[in-house]
Amino acid sequence: ANAIFDHAAEILRENDRGTYTVPTHGLYPFQWNWDSCLTAIGQAHINEDRAWTEIDTLFDHQWDDGMVPHIVFHQHDDGYFPGPDVWQTHRPTPTSGITQPPVAGFAVRRIFDMTKDRDMARARAGALLPKIAAWHDWFFRSRDPQGTGLVAIIHPWESGRDNSVDWDAAFERVPTTGVLPFVRRDTQHANPDHRPTQAQYERYIYLVQLFRGLNWDNTKLHDASPFQVVDPGFNAILLRSCADLADLADTLDQPGIAAQARAHLARGLAAMETLWSDAQGQYLCLDRTLGTLIQSPSIGGLLATFAAIPQHRAAAIGTRLTILGEKVTYLVPSHDPDAAEFDSLRYWRGPVWLIVNYMIADGLQQAGQGDVAARIVADSIALIEKSGFAEYYDPTDGTPCGGGRFTWTAAMVIEFLA
Ligand code: DGY
Repeated sequence: ANAIFDHAAEILRENDRGTYTVPTHGLYPFQWNWDSCLTAIGQAHINEDRAWTEIDTLFDHQWDDGMVPHIVFHQHDDGYFPGPDVWQTHRPTPTSGITQPPVAGFAVRRIFDMTKDRDMARARAGALLPKIAAWHDWFFRSRDPQGTGLVAIIHPWESGRDNSVDWDAAFERVPTTGVLPFVRRDTQHANPDHRPTQAQYERYIYLVQLFRGLNWDNTKLHDASPFQVVDPGFNAILLRSCADLADLADTLDQPGIAAQARAHLARGLAAMETLWSDAQGQYLCLDRTLGTLIQSPSIGGLLATFAAIPQHRAAAIGTRLTILGEKVTYLVPSHDPDAAEFDSLRYWRGPVWLIVNYMIADGLQQAGQGDVAARIVADSIALIEKSGFAEYYDPTDGTPCGGGRFTWTAAMVIEFLA
C-alpha cells in the first residue's frame, strides 16, 4: 500500500503546474474543472495548502454569470483540440464555454473534514462558499429554465462522460452542417480505438460553433441547443454538492447560502424520482427535447447514489451492481456489458473509471450498502496493481486505456488507501 501511495503522490507532483494540475501530460495540457476538484482531494492528504490552491485557481476563472468553465487554458499548447481559437470565449485567460460536473462543493467539504489546519480550512473554504453557491444558482437558472428541479447538459462534454451510449439517440439529431474542417489531436496521444469517433467529434464541434454564434450567452444557450439531456449522475453530483455546501455553510456561519442550497436540494431530490425505471432497476437519463426517458443502462443511473436518494433506491442500485459484478472482473463498467453498444475499450461505452467508482462507493457507503462499496474499492486497487494509473480500464481484463500516469486516478487511489 505504501508503494502505491508513493507512486500516486509522484504522479500528482509530476502533473503539478504550480497552481493547477494537468490531468495528464500531452493529451490534456490544461486545467479541467472536475479533474481539478477531485485531484485536490488527493492533494489534501499530502499538502493542504496546495489542495486549496487547486480549487482557488479554478474559481479565479469563474464567469461573471456564475458558470465555472470546463477547461482553463492557462498556457499555449498546440497539442489539444479544440483550443481557445475554436471556443472564442474572450475571457482574460481563455476558457472553454461549457461547464462540467459540479463536484467542487463535495470536494471542499471533504477537504475541510480531513483538515489538520482548521484555521486555514475555515478561511479557504469560507471564501469559496459564495463562489460555489453562485455556480449552483447558475445551474438552476441557466440549465433548468422551466424550474423542474433538475438541470440539463447541453453538450456531451459537460457530462464528463463524453461518448456515453446515453447520448447516442439525442446526438443523432445534432446536425453537422457548417462544421469547419478540423484536425483532432487526441488520437495522436491515445489509441483511436479508445476514443470517441470522428462522427461524434463533428457533432461536438457543431454545438461549440452554435453556442459561439450566440456569444456564449447563457440566457440563450439552453433553449437554443438541439441537445438537452438530464443525466441522473450529473444531477446527483450537483445535489450532493448542494448538501455538502449547506452543511459547510452552517459550520461557517453563512446561513443564506445554507438555506438556498437546501432549497435546491429538496426540489432536486424530489425530481430525481421521475428518472427512476423499475424495468432497468436504475435511474435513466431524460431527453428533455422529447420528454422521454432514454433506455440506456449506463453508469450515469448508478452514480445517482452519490446523492441522498431514498434507501430503497440505493438498495436497488446495490443489487444492480451485484448483478453487473458477475458479468465483469472489475466493477463498475460504464455501460452494461449485455447491451449491444457495450465496448470494453472505448472511453465511456464500457470502461471502468476510478473517479466514478469512488463516488459510487462513497454513496453506497453512506446508504448502508457497505459490501458492494467494498467490492468496488477492492476492484479499483486491483486495477492499479495490475495496470498502473491509467485514465480508464477494460472491465473484463483490466487493460489500461486512454492516457497514462493520470492525475485523478492517482488522487482517487490516495483516497481509497486513506
Ligand atoms: C476531451 O477532450 O476528450 C475532453 O473530455 C473534453 O473535455
